[in-house]
Amino acid sequence: MTDTNVVLHHTENGILTITINRPDKLNALNHELLDALEQLFLHAKASSDVKALLITGQGKAFCAGADINKLAESDAMTGYSFAKRGQSVFRLLETLGKPSLSAVNGYAFGGGCELCMSSTIRIASDKAKFGQPEVKLGVIPGYGGTQRLARLVGKGRAMDLCLTGRTIDAATATAWGLVSETVPDGMLMDKAHEILGSILAVGPLAAKGVMEAVDKGFDLSMDDAMELEALYFAKVCASEDKKEGVSAFLEKREAHFTGA
Ligand code: COA
Repeated sequence: MTDTNVVLHHTENGILTITINRPDKLNALNHELLDALEQLFLHAKASSDVKALLITGQGKAFCAGADINKLAESDAMTGYSFAKRGQSVFRLLETLGKPSLSAVNGYAFGGGCELCMSSTIRIASDKAKFGQPEVKLGVIPGYGGTQRLARLVGKGRAMDLCLTGRTIDAATATAWGLVSETVPDGMLMDKAHEILGSILAVGPLAAKGVMEAVDKGFDLSMDDAMELEALYFAKVCASEDKKEGVSAFLEKREAHFTGA
């Protein structure tokens, strides 16, 4: 992994914490930052030491979006590549097979909102603000915003945010289902660790099964989605983790999952 200071990272108790670190530019996503995130996501995917990811931002922003300086240089060809590059890094995070949580500490605008929507779970500090302001720059969201926002909060509210470019606060984002919950600013990281800790205590195969079934099933017909769920259910039924989980319940003891 290239060492770079645009992201800070450390792994503790199986959780890889990634802190976006361009606070003077409100953590805007330039090429270097996207490359660094991609490398960290690939490392997280490959490393057995990493069980979950926690993403947050340094300073007053989570991430204020794609770097507008780069956007300024884009034409149709480079704009297409610009969108595809961000989309692929974020889709890598979304399909990592390991749970990720964005702890949104401040502005999550444009690509920042799109980044947090690509993680498995989002929570917000009461100082967080969300928006897809791209239309104000004459463009549209290009890192998955038009698609993930509609899937998370419904078409109407996605249209509202993407068409007006307006900002919503953390309470509204929670009410709309964009984030799971809002906590006081000083409690954000504790809450993030608490949620990831709960996920790490369940069977890893079951957690992976949930993430894949939800991700792959979301856009299928109900019949196809039910079939997919039954197949994933069958797979976990054959696992050692299922034997252990069920035995532990019946024997009134704590389960010790191995991911086998
Ligand atoms: N790309 C590049 N630089 C950005 C940026 C972005 N998306 N967002 C903020 N910055 C830079 C500013 O240019 C400024 O740099 P400078 O100090 O060299 O002038 C610095 O970060 C601080 O931003 P500033 O606008 O002074 O902070 P603020 O607190 O007054 O306003 C925001 C905060 C988030 C409201 C404002 O920065 C903003 O609207 N940013 C753009 C958000 C956006 O449109 N994102 C989608 C991009 S496609």
